Amino acid sequence: NEIKIFSPATVANVACGFDVLGFCLDSIGDEMVIRKTDKKGIHITKIEGFDLPFEAELNVAGVSALAMYEAAKPDCGFEIEIYKNIKPGSGIGSSAASAVGSVFGMNELLGKPYNQTELTQFAIKGEALASKCEHADNLAPALFGGFTLVKSISPLEILEIPSPKNLYATIIHPQIEIKTSESRAILPKEIPLQDAITQWSNFGSLIHSLHTSDYELLQRSLHDVIVEPHRSKLIPHYKEAKKAALQHGALGAGISGSGPSIFTLSKGLENANKVQDALEKVYSKTGIAFEIHVTKIN
Ligand code: HSE
Repeated sequence: NEIKIFSPATVANVACGFDVLGFCLDSIGDEMVIRKTDKKGIHITKIEGFDLPFEAELNVAGVSALAMYEAAKPDCGFEIEIYKNIKPGSGIGSSAASAVGSVFGMNELLGKPYNQTELTQFAIKGEALASKCEHADNLAPALFGGFTLVKSISPLEILEIPSPKNLYATIIHPQIEIKTSESRAILPKEIPLQDAITQWSNFGSLIHSLHTSDYELLQRSLHDVIVEPHRSKLIPHYKEAKKAALQHGALGAGISGSGPSIFTLSKGLENANKVQDALEKVYSKTGIAFEIHVTKIN
């Protein structure tokens, strides 16, 4: 009647895949306890870590839970406890982890009536509360793991993309907050054709490189000519950090989701650790507090 779950952080966009590509960070995430109750409805009974609303209608985990509850019409209610480790506004899918956690846990307790795509569909409602738009590029990797591609939002279609065996991510979170809604608002509504061509050529090659474990092609494909030029201005020392990562063996680097976290990809743990040292050096000098993680992509 009760389940304790780990709901992982995720990196959305992955440079050239704005709003469609993402990958899961297995070692960073929130914990949640979901409990079946006789009392009907969705009740958030505990939140630790960050100050978030207890009213289900105002809470990301609550909104996705309500979406599923209304569809499933179970003859019970649910209590949700949220132990939040992923800081809201950090750019590693904090809202997605909350949105996914509640529906995943409820589904388990109900005997798994829904598949992962259906769960993502409910979670989109919670995600939309946080970012003011429906996107699933953090939700899908949080539910499926590894790399995922959101082929379409309506109808929702998610593709699982394989990861090369030895691929590691180093993620640094400079401790400033950027609201997804704000970093979406600064993006241009139209893009030049030549930029679009460059972007989809990189995106296609990136997907190909993941399928073929071609690290060299992956390195040449991890570029973003559309979003990064605008959003990087919101992240202090972004250029310096990216340069240091590339000089110390990263295959590529970019903004994680809507920032301010920066992700880098490396072949092998040793390189990922070197990149970690290089990024630490850059931000240690700035006086900006930061958190940094290295994690294997599965
Ligand atoms: N794709 C979304 C964006 C992810 O970049 O705005 C936000 O977490």
